[in-house]
Amino acid sequence: MRILGISGSLRRDSFNTRLLDAAAELLPEGAELVRWDGLEAVPPFNEDLEAGPAPAAVAELRDALADADAVLIATPEYNGSVPGQLKNALDWASRPHATSPLRNLPVAVVGASTSGFGGVWAQADLRRILARIGARVLDTELVVGLAASRFDESGRLLDEDTRRGLGEILGALVPQVRARELVAA
Ligand SMILES: Cc1cc2nc3c(=O)[nH]c(=O)nc-3n(C[C@H](O)[C@H](O)[C@H](O)COP(=O)(O)O)c2cc1C
Repeated sequence: MRILGISGSLRRDSFNTRLLDAAAELLPEGAELVRWDGLEAVPPFNEDLEAGPAPAAVAELRDALADADAVLIATPEYNGSVPGQLKNALDWASRPHATSPLRNLPVAVVGASTSGFGGVWAQADLRRILARIGARVLDTELVVGLAASRFDESGRLLDEDTRRGLGEILGALVPQVRARELVAA
């Protein structure tokens, strides 16, 4: 089972990217996590560009999604919602709707924030966006508030409750992947 990890942050020392690193240590048996780091290269979405070949970063994202059995997105919260760069990439990946690689793809959303609220709004918005696109969105949430206190200096996730919650969410992707395979068979 191949899980594509997408961080919604472009920041070098991003807590959300570190969450994906932690996820790679907590995978269900037989699963691998492959990170997609192309977010910064995705151009602003423009319907005019859809007539021509997809920009390289968009093509890479679509291919990475098509090769994945499931996706784990770790998103920051910016001003109460999803960071623009992440929404933009999802807009590209959602088109054309009928053939979007996100359709029916199991996706789990988690998020870290330096605030005490943990980015709950961004996670809720992201789940709504993904459902609108037609992804098989897990009804789970991992709220990592006060993120600076939960990682050590090397960026490793220390907080045991968070590690357990992350492991459970990764485990919850497995039946969704199976269900999707049954539908496709
Ligand atoms: C433009 C901007 C807006 C932000 N708005 C919120 C917010 O609405 N809620 C929140 O919990 N944190 C907010 N933050 C703080 C982020 O949670 C914090 O920067 C976090 O570390 C970003 O994730 P990262 O470490 O993965 O880059 C904001 C940060 C920025 C730069």
